[in-house]
Amino acid sequence: MAHAASPSPLSSRAGRSLAGRIRVPGDKSISHRSLMFGAVSLGETRIEGLLEADDVLGTGAAMRALGAVVTRDGEGAWRVSGLGCGGLLEPEGVLDFGNAGTGSRLTMGLVAGHSIAATFVGDASLSRRPMGRVLNPLREMGVEVIARSGDRLPLTLRGPKTLLPITYRVPVPSAQVKSAVLLAGLGGAGITTVIEPIATRDHTERMLQGFGADLSVEIAEDGGRTIRLVGRPELKAQHVVVPGDPSSAAFAIVAGLIVPGSDVTVENVLLNPLRTGLFQTLLEMGADLVIENERLSGGERIGDVRVRSSQLKGVVVPPERAPAMIDEYPILAIAAAFAEGPTVMEGLEELRVKESDRLAAVARGLETNAIACREGDTSLVVEGRRAGVKIGGGTVATHLDHRIAMSFLVLGLAADRPVSVDDTAMIATSFPSFRGLMEGLGADFFEA
Ligand code: S3P
Repeated sequence: MAHAASPSPLSSRAGRSLAGRIRVPGDKSISHRSLMFGAVSLGETRIEGLLEADDVLGTGAAMRALGAVVTRDGEGAWRVSGLGCGGLLEPEGVLDFGNAGTGSRLTMGLVAGHSIAATFVGDASLSRRPMGRVLNPLREMGVEVIARSGDRLPLTLRGPKTLLPITYRVPVPSAQVKSAVLLAGLGGAGITTVIEPIATRDHTERMLQGFGADLSVEIAEDGGRTIRLVGRPELKAQHVVVPGDPSSAAFAIVAGLIVPGSDVTVENVLLNPLRTGLFQTLLEMGADLVIENERLSGGERIGDVRVRSSQLKGVVVPPERAPAMIDEYPILAIAAAFAEGPTVMEGLEELRVKESDRLAAVARGLETNAIACREGDTSLVVEGRRAGVKIGGGTVATHLDHRIAMSFLVLGLAADRPVSVDDTAMIATSFPSFRGLMEGLGADFFEA
């Protein structure tokens, strides 16, 4: 994986209204899982609409290093010839996951279920992120972990001869942790149970069922979930069609709401209810946001999201909604800057361990652009529009975080003064066509 050599700063400024219909690239969570599940299935999995961005391509390279045959065909679809459950081979070199938390953590789970060793490395951002949350349950299952600096990358995992299925209560709401334990559980003879008190995105559960695993989900009255997976299933290759990523669509959607006179539609967006917290929040803020052409595809709800510029009002975002919009707080903070009255966001502890400390990065970025906010340990309050205050004019430190870069470039499209970000190279980790798609809608980006 390429690690960006020199930063690529970029600026944005207000100009025309935004208009048009776009399709954003495939969902990142589903793309990673398609490659991984294809690698441990028998037969050839065909993936249409795979997100071709650094994070996911890194997972493709890792699956190749683990023995799967991963190719792109002439029509742009990806094909994965899998090795069957338990069939992964010990890689010769290190597995480099670049910036990708999902790629690295889920692959740790996969490797754990095999009696092979693999070394995981990543970029500066990934090497700072906590891995103990995944390594601890894997240790309970019998995995050996060799790490030089605490539970951080670089580290080596060695799967046990016989993996112990466990019952694990996930201590933080994290789909990555849940998924890593389940993927390890594929390799154990017996039932692995994951209990999540707060539901998180359920792509692993839905897709494993689709690939033929015996997996059940019990939903308690309080919304908590108990997931039971029978180990050593015979997974069978599938045809996966990846819908548009709601977390990428979020940038064009918020831009359409805050740039006056805009009318923007993002087609073919995944509307899984555990991913649509931002849309719900924007509706509560008074957004003119409608879902058109709603339909089912591969068991997931998808639709076209249309927004027209709206005068938003500040709201209190309940903490229990955080898992359903965890990646969207940076762009929500931008929407909140244009609202009437403050927007209160609570329960944000997980934002501190994303590609950057997103809570701090957002707060500093807002302040640099004359937007008043209050950063708490686990909360953020963004004051809305203040009469007579001109916003924008700052340069934002992105800390190798794609969503910080894209969020603040959206800010500049509606601010009184241009907004700059110190780097955009890492946007390629999740949304390489961001600039082109946004410019197609009328966005004005420029190299200062
Ligand atoms: C993801 C889970 C979330 C999310 C990430 C993708 C996944 O991370 O932030 O972008 O695909 O499972 P956490 O599990 O750390 O919350």
